[in-house]
Amino acid sequence: MSNLAVVVLAAGEGTRMKSATPKVLHRIAGLELIGHVLSTATSLSAHKVVAVLRHERERLESYVSAFYPNVAIAEQDEIPGTGRAVEAALAELAHFDGDVVVLSGDVPLLDVESIGSLVEIHRELGNKATLVSTVLDNPHGYGRIVRDRGELIGIVEQKDASDSERDIQEVNAGVYVFDAQALRDTLERVGTNNAQGEKYLTDVVGILIQAGHKVSAHQITDKWLVAGINDRVQLSEVEAELNRRIVTAWQMAGVTIQEPSSTWIDVTVSLGRDVTLLPGTRLHGLTTIGEGSIIGPDTTLTDVEVGEGVRINRTDATSSKIYSGATVGPFAFIRPGTELGADGKIGAFVETKNAQIGKGAKVPHLSYVGDASIGEGSNIGAGTIFANYDGVNKHRTEIGKQARTGSGNVFVAPVKVGDGAYTAAGSTIRRDVEPGALALNPAAQKNLAGWVIQNRPGSKSAIAATDTE
Ligand code: UD1
Ligand code: CA
Repeated sequence: MSNLAVVVLAAGEGTRMKSATPKVLHRIAGLELIGHVLSTATSLSAHKVVAVLRHERERLESYVSAFYPNVAIAEQDEIPGTGRAVEAALAELAHFDGDVVVLSGDVPLLDVESIGSLVEIHRELGNKATLVSTVLDNPHGYGRIVRDRGELIGIVEQKDASDSERDIQEVNAGVYVFDAQALRDTLERVGTNNAQGEKYLTDVVGILIQAGHKVSAHQITDKWLVAGINDRVQLSEVEAELNRRIVTAWQMAGVTIQEPSSTWIDVTVSLGRDVTLLPGTRLHGLTTIGEGSIIGPDTTLTDVEVGEGVRINRTDATSSKIYSGATVGPFAFIRPGTELGADGKIGAFVETKNAQIGKGAKVPHLSYVGDASIGEGSNIGAGTIFANYDGVNKHRTEIGKQARTGSGNVFVAPVKVGDGAYTAAGSTIRRDVEPGALALNPAAQKNLAGWVIQNRPGSKSAIAATDTE
């Protein structure tokens, strides 16, 4: 949009969150509140986007500069209030004479389309200021839109409102478009003589109207778009609503989601056609799921790349790759650096970490596979431990392709098992096994005849042993 600047207010303390983390760094759907707002702000193709910071400035600044490097940063001084915050931003927009959109860092769901149409309305009406309002059943805490016979006359904050003003249900969303010059001139005249001793941005509205300028409130019906987050109750409510919208969008795009209320999908996730998500599935970060895969129930995937036709059941997985046709779970714990090749299997009660498991290779039952590679088509016996840690350092185990390892093995790394080699059940493999060899470490078995009958006389076992004689 031409001749447009965007200001994002994020200097407030967010005391109502009662948190060591600045309010706007709390996350919903995998993205910080201010991340949602800056993503929208930077999609408006504005001349400049300015974020106003003060509280925990360093933490916020490093977040903003890391993820939104084109966003300019202004610092608010010790004078409090949203009006003062905007003044700080205007210092970064010294010669700018277009329209200034003001957004709040704590209003995450407002979208590009709504802001675009707000700017359009503002320009069509030739306004000096246009703000967004909405009607709420419970308007407590918000600034109220004061009208006289339908005509906007100003905004009054909760703490400054009279009893009759507090009954007003039309509230200020905290989203505005201003003519830059009118905003500059008017803010100079805004004082701090109010219940909170703050320089309110909302006062600009009344002052402009009194001076005879055109100002209007654009009422929107989708109240979620302008929902502000001040405490953790609102944080969870807005997150649930955002999640409903994300789930609906994926359903419309061809994903089966059996129980939307228990399915959580971050904004950063991407899903293929005919994916099925079963109840209790949570998909986070840069997780991607290929066509036709079935995930869940009760599965959490964080930064996991999943191919097509994969089945993942009751699993927790992080920073891993599962290739097409593979199956995982139930009850698998897939830690970072796991790669499961096409048509491979990680079965029940298996934990993996930094493990490259080849095409069609299987670790079906009750095993720990850490710092290992397993070649194509190999099968790992039930209850196998890859002993990767000597107490000081981690070491690798390399299993070749088409190997068959016995149940209850311990691979004491560093160790290699060659292509096509076998290991016997119950073996502890400390030395490399050549391709095609069978490794076993026989410890001769001794049976002490009659031991139970002599040493546990009268026990159920002894009686059972005697009966069979
Ligand atoms: C503000 C509005 C209120 C509106 C509501 C909508 C004012 C005076 N009030 O109230 O009319 O209904 O938003 O959500 O504007 N901030 C700064 N510097 C400050 C104070 C706040 O940058 O000194 C930032 C905050 O970080 C936040 C935003 O401005 O992102 C809004 O501040 P907040 O304290 O949450 O204002 P509300 O009380 O919600
Ligand atoms: Ca707020």
